[in-house]
Amino acid sequence: MAAPVLAILNLKGGVGKTTIASNVSYEIFQNKAKRVLLLDMDPQYNLSQQLLTKSQYDGMQNANKNILRLFEPAPVSDFFDVNTSSNIPLPPSASSTMLYYLINQSDKAISVVPGTFELTKYSFINDNDKLNHAKAYFKHAISLARNEYDLVVLDMNPSSSFLTFCGLTVATDVLAPVRPDKFSVQGLDLVKRLIDHPLVQPKPNLHIVMNGIKRTAALTSTEKDIRQAAFFKDRILVNRVYMSAVLTARDDHTGFAKHRKVSGKTQISEDLKAVAYELWTRMGA
Ligand SMILES: Nc1ncnc2c1ncn2[C@@H]1O[C@H](COP(=O)(O)OP(=O)(O)OP(=O)(O)O)[C@@H](O)[C@H]1O
Ligand SMILES: [Mg+2]
Repeated sequence: MAAPVLAILNLKGGVGKTTIASNVSYEIFQNKAKRVLLLDMDPQYNLSQQLLTKSQYDGMQNANKNILRLFEPAPVSDFFDVNTSSNIPLPPSASSTMLYYLINQSDKAISVVPGTFELTKYSFINDNDKLNHAKAYFKHAISLARNEYDLVVLDMNPSSSFLTFCGLTVATDVLAPVRPDKFSVQGLDLVKRLIDHPLVQPKPNLHIVMNGIKRTAALTSTEKDIRQAAFFKDRILVNRVYMSAVLTARDDHTGFAKHRKVSGKTQISEDLKAVAYELWTRMGA
């Protein structure tokens, strides 16, 4: 069966998409899915910065091994151009391609295709034929990846763009992290509107997870409203990701939060595991 494709999306920035993309995926990898592929779809490439050291990232960039290889077969010299040669995509696991193995064991592996600032070019190009070519190439590449992996995860950027649309057209599931503030709820409303758009076919299933909640705080009225809203109440996970210093991005750590050498990891690891298992069940995977 083709693997599920999970897009982590909220059109509000800074709600924890990247943190959840890496750390929830890691829990799924540890216990549910043996082959996991993470795709950094954000031109700011925070996921890549979180998971790769600078020299690992630079090595990939210098070899042109990055997410653009899922949209175009080879680099083009003009920043504002798209390579529309009719080469069919290589599967992401093919040698010479674009991924970095974060963990590669005999029976299981988790890898990342790094993001790149060059993705911004798709926001400036207005030649629809070229963009459609890149989108079709991406769809084909993802269909190949779905046969090789047990889970494909897309860390999306918060602006609504060509990349958002590409992500939504390949996603079987969308996970929207939400912080209990009205702007992040507005971002969630926009995700719903995008998914409802007739151009998004087939429709991905929407899941919502509350992030950055203080463990000891009472339920806020914002969270209560989402949990009771007719459309959202069946889609919001029971389990939440709490605020934790272990999850806060730091310059001196690359890799999954679970591998940080700090105390106090047990509780947040349990939260992440509970979220991961609930999500996996909801995805029907
Ligand atoms: N549960 C949490 N506990 C503590 N810190 C968190 C938590 N979730 C996210 N953060 C921190 O909040 C900041 C924003 O998180 P993150 O980068 O994951 O958000 P994002 O939605 O991916 O942002 P962007 O829209 O820019 O892509 C980061 O510094 C991250 O470390
Ligand atoms: Mg991010």
